[in-house]
Amino acid sequence: MSDIEPNVAEQLFADRFGTGPAGVVASPGRVNLIGEHTDYNDGFVSPMAIEQRVDMAFRPRDDRRAILYTGGDPNPVVFDIDSVDKIAGWGLYPQGILRHFATDGLPIRGFEAALVSDIPSGAGLSSSAALELAVARVQAEVAGVPWDASEMALRCVRAENQWVGVSCGVMDQLICATAVEGSVSRIDCEDYTSEHVTMPSGVVVLVLHTGTKRGLVDSEYNERRSTCERAALELGVSSLRHATIDLLDASDVDDLARRRARHVITENQRVVDWGTAVAASDFETAGALMVASHESLRDDYEVSGPALDAMVELALETDGVIGARLTGAGFAGACVALVRNDAVETAVERIAQEFPQRYDAIPQIIASLPQRGTALL
Ligand code: GLA
Repeated sequence: MSDIEPNVAEQLFADRFGTGPAGVVASPGRVNLIGEHTDYNDGFVSPMAIEQRVDMAFRPRDDRRAILYTGGDPNPVVFDIDSVDKIAGWGLYPQGILRHFATDGLPIRGFEAALVSDIPSGAGLSSSAALELAVARVQAEVAGVPWDASEMALRCVRAENQWVGVSCGVMDQLICATAVEGSVSRIDCEDYTSEHVTMPSGVVVLVLHTGTKRGLVDSEYNERRSTCERAALELGVSSLRHATIDLLDASDVDDLARRRARHVITENQRVVDWGTAVAASDFETAGALMVASHESLRDDYEVSGPALDAMVELALETDGVIGARLTGAGFAGACVALVRNDAVETAVERIAQEFPQRYDAIPQIIASLPQRGTALL
């Protein structure tokens, strides 16, 4: 369940602006079930949108200003929508979206908004992508731009890469924009197409947030990306999506690039196999693939961390847990587990109690059904 009470964004809007909004947009966070660090290698990912989300109440303005309030802060973010001077703080995200509408030749319009979010930040649950898509949806509405979810997601990726300066891949924005209620998506990050697999009854997805936050890991992320690009170049393929284990075995790439490439190549195959297993309700296979994914991220890709390893270990010792792995960029933040329906309550209780005894942090455990993507309510 989301912690956001109905109408909270509307109430905040009315408090700050005196009268009610013209509309409200809801934009979900996401959890990736399998397929990590594959998106920027043109590979496969299998995420779903979660119940935690950003709600944004909004109204167009007749001047060229954007004014945005969040729940916790009496001071709004304010910027001139035509200015190309970067502003400081989180306002850089909405500003980047508007700038990329403009550079893509789309109209932009001033607006005012109040937003509330219950997506934990720095946890690997895509709070930034949810914010970006919320702003894009609002801007499309106020400026009269037709909504094409995938195209808009890719515009948000460009804004994050070029305006904010974070070189993320395409997964977070694509799932946030295109998620289908009740389904896990399999996104092909080479051509941006998605297939939707209905989540079978009998299992529940648990987000196991360790309560730890990723620190400054951008440099690690960028290093992984460039090592993958170098490996692809040395293997003579356009991206690691097109490499095989045989090709890698026959090559003389160095040990580091070899381990990074091995993760990506095997992870892509695991995404395909996981989708097949879940569609057939073969949970044993699906769970084993998630565990193999975690091990590969820990040992070959080296993006796990002590809190994530402790959480996966605990989850796998817990009755009813079919599989568990880190989710998102890694290092800290959240894991994801697939749990038998009939064991969810006891599993949640045990993990909540036991985790702080193994690692010095308070976990947050979220059960979520797959939600739809960013939408006007
Ligand atoms: C972050 C990035 C995504 C993806 C994941 C790792 O969430 O934003 O593009 O690369 O890490 O799978």
